[in-house]
Amino acid sequence: MKIEILASILTGPLLVVAQLHALAKDAGLLYFGTAVSPSDSSDQPYYRLSNDIKNFGQYTPDNAQKWDATEPSRGRFSYGQADAIVNRAISNKMLMRCHTLVWYSQLPSWVSSGSWTKDTMTSVMQTHISNVMGHFKGKCYAWDVVNEALEDDGTYRNNPFMKAIGDSHFALAFKFAAAADPEAKLYYNDYNLEYFPVKADGAVRIVKLVQAAGAPIHGVGLQAHMTIGRTPSRENLTWTLNKYVALGLDVAYTELDVRIKNLPSNATGIQMQAKEYVDMVGSCLDVPRCVGITVWGFGDAHSWIPQTFPGAGEACLFDKNSKPKPAFSSVSALLASASGKRPPWNTAASTTLATAVKPAVATPTA
Ligand code: XIL
Repeated sequence: MKIEILASILTGPLLVVAQLHALAKDAGLLYFGTAVSPSDSSDQPYYRLSNDIKNFGQYTPDNAQKWDATEPSRGRFSYGQADAIVNRAISNKMLMRCHTLVWYSQLPSWVSSGSWTKDTMTSVMQTHISNVMGHFKGKCYAWDVVNEALEDDGTYRNNPFMKAIGDSHFALAFKFAAAADPEAKLYYNDYNLEYFPVKADGAVRIVKLVQAAGAPIHGVGLQAHMTIGRTPSRENLTWTLNKYVALGLDVAYTELDVRIKNLPSNATGIQMQAKEYVDMVGSCLDVPRCVGITVWGFGDAHSWIPQTFPGAGEACLFDKNSKPKPAFSSVSALLASASGKRPPWNTAASTTLATAVKPAVATPTA
């Protein structure tokens, strides 16, 4: 079986039968997953791949669970788009990483432009967290409770939550989250933690604040929006992941993509991208408490990169026609070569959603 997989990788991308989630599980991860969007079904080859549990065992909604989607006006909650994604995960027997609750961006204006005191903002935050998490209770393996609270220099972003409540809002958010769904793994999630040690240390400070306040926190999500030529070495990435493991936490790459800055790409760029994807996945394999890897979309036609970083793109494992790129083959080969090298994270958890919310191992100590 393994020889067949390797042989198919070597014979060329169109014949690749290696499947990311299946290989990731054999290599001891809980999942290999992807961000999904309600519009995925407009591209059938992409949609079919996204529903194949052998390739993707976990979904994160790209936008459907954000504040502007779930509570567009105060106290009025709407879950239609997110429900569709969660139901897709349930029928495919996939895990859900749910995303996100306390974030400065994609906030409706009634929150971002409101004038708040400490008490009123605390109440707004609690209402939002308990309604949204309550609605999806039992269906989310993990929640990104607080997202992107740090500037790149490691200081706290002066966002509406920070302005009204101060840094005690971190622990409050985690307390409200634990009360709303006690089984969900609760994460702090941010970008550039892989690049900037001062920012990575900022996340350590947030974790310690939450822990010191007696609130549960189970993991740090490193978004992993990488740029070719800038991705740190596998060793350095491992070192960063271990900062959070040392605090008793799980870690995960939650939004991986590796963008190419100068388009159109050439053969060198495509090979660098493959190597940097391998370094990212390899560093997760090197850290026993790295739970899994989520790519932020897997096809170049569906990536958020070209819109957000004009001039950059081609950041995904599959091209715009949903054909695997060298990065896909290299990641598959790496995962295949890691088969059996670390114990399975929790085999039962990845088979059904119901059991997945009660992982049998790696219970957080925080
Ligand atoms: C992105 C979405 O993919 C885009 O569609 C949207 O326009 C902007 O947000 N960090 C996060 C994600 O935590 O929620 C962001 O998703 C990408 C960066």
